[in-house]
Amino acid sequence: MSRLRFPDGFTWGAATAAYQIEGAAHEDGRGRSIWDTYSEAPGNVRNGDTGAVAADHYHRWRADIALMQELGLDAYRFSIAWPRIQPTGRGTANRRGLDFYRHLVNGLREAGIEPYPTLYHWDLPQPLEDAGGWPARETAERFAEYAEIVATELPEVRHWLTLNEPWCSAFLGYGIGRHAPGGHDGRRAARAAHHLLLGHGLAVAAIRQANPAAQVGIVLNLEPMRPETPSVQDVDAALLVDGMHNRFFLDPIFRGSYPADVLDHLSPLMGLDHIHDGDLATIAAPIDVLGVNYYRPTVVAGHSANGHEDALWPGDARISMRTVDGPQTAIGWGVDSAGLEEILVRVRREYGDIPMLVTENGAAYDDEPDDVGFVRDRQRLDYIDQHLRAAHRAIAAGVDLRGYFVWSLLDNFEWAEGYARRFGIVRVDYETQQRTPKESARWYSKVIAANGLIA
Ligand code: FCB
Repeated sequence: MSRLRFPDGFTWGAATAAYQIEGAAHEDGRGRSIWDTYSEAPGNVRNGDTGAVAADHYHRWRADIALMQELGLDAYRFSIAWPRIQPTGRGTANRRGLDFYRHLVNGLREAGIEPYPTLYHWDLPQPLEDAGGWPARETAERFAEYAEIVATELPEVRHWLTLNEPWCSAFLGYGIGRHAPGGHDGRRAARAAHHLLLGHGLAVAAIRQANPAAQVGIVLNLEPMRPETPSVQDVDAALLVDGMHNRFFLDPIFRGSYPADVLDHLSPLMGLDHIHDGDLATIAAPIDVLGVNYYRPTVVAGHSANGHEDALWPGDARISMRTVDGPQTAIGWGVDSAGLEEILVRVRREYGDIPMLVTENGAAYDDEPDDVGFVRDRQRLDYIDQHLRAAHRAIAAGVDLRGYFVWSLLDNFEWAEGYARRFGIVRVDYETQQRTPKESARWYSKVIAANGLIA
């Protein structure tokens, strides 16, 4: 372990998402989202948990800002719940929903914490899902309308992020049903992915029009795809998975085209008529920053025999994926910090010198609080430490990395895993809603103060 300084002005933050922390699901005119519906349906979420109360941030935001200030955060990445702004996903804005975020943004700025809101962290208004959801083109237009409302109403925001991990929305949501809305059709998932990208492009234009000074970006979950063996089968499979996971999003955004291998793969299986002339130009609207969420690499193998039905996307039946060997976090994700360096360096090499942020990185462990609720989470601290070292190596290799946001500020509703998985650097006791910074939070404060690793 050695001292490591980050560039001056490096942004240190923490991240959360609306449905995971806010609760207050039925307050102040909030409409229903696909995550309400999905989590209420038996069997979708571990222990039948829902985000109806979550960490009650909707009522505790003032104290949460004070906590962030105590930790010394420069920036806070949160998401805006579309159904609070447009309860049906279209039409006039709900004043009370806007007020909540206006107060949050102002409170953060007063505390010296820069807000980095994400417009869409998976909570699609249910009426839009009923009208076809992301597989329907119209949803992209509705998203742009919502973006315009919010960017106009929150002019103090200087950093906008459009979508969080559109890969998850599309393929986990419409392909394998692991996320809301729980669809099982790879073709619809691939169409959803295109419309999410289109919605992103339209939203970039809408935000720029509403607030020309704002910095705009998107958040992608990028993963190195490692072939199980050097066999042609595994190498080809890893390349295709890389195409469907990483390049499916990076290429349209930064090159204005889909990767040829992805199009060759999908075209005979589903046709491509959902991609209209001009869409790619819209999607490729220049952005100011790329947000990278990084947790782990994936190991990919190809099979000659058809193992299972189409799942994530059409034609993935001959492919299997697993996490890397070695230590794992409590959610079963392999720990591999070199993957973060690899993916950041690769983006620069293949797509150019783009300013980047690590918009999420962190780990779930089975925390054991002592009798005053304090958690000595050495493993989480080590995970973050290792990944900061990897990020620093990427900077040394020339990557224009501007900041790092730990996932997550608070323990929260971890989607299909419910409250069973804790990612927070601050413990939340869900009975009392008491917040207690863990050892990792205290350590992270020192990292922020030193602008780097001190020991
Ligand atoms: C990411 C999500 C985030 C959180 C982490 C653990 O995929 O963006 O909301 O659940 O994983």
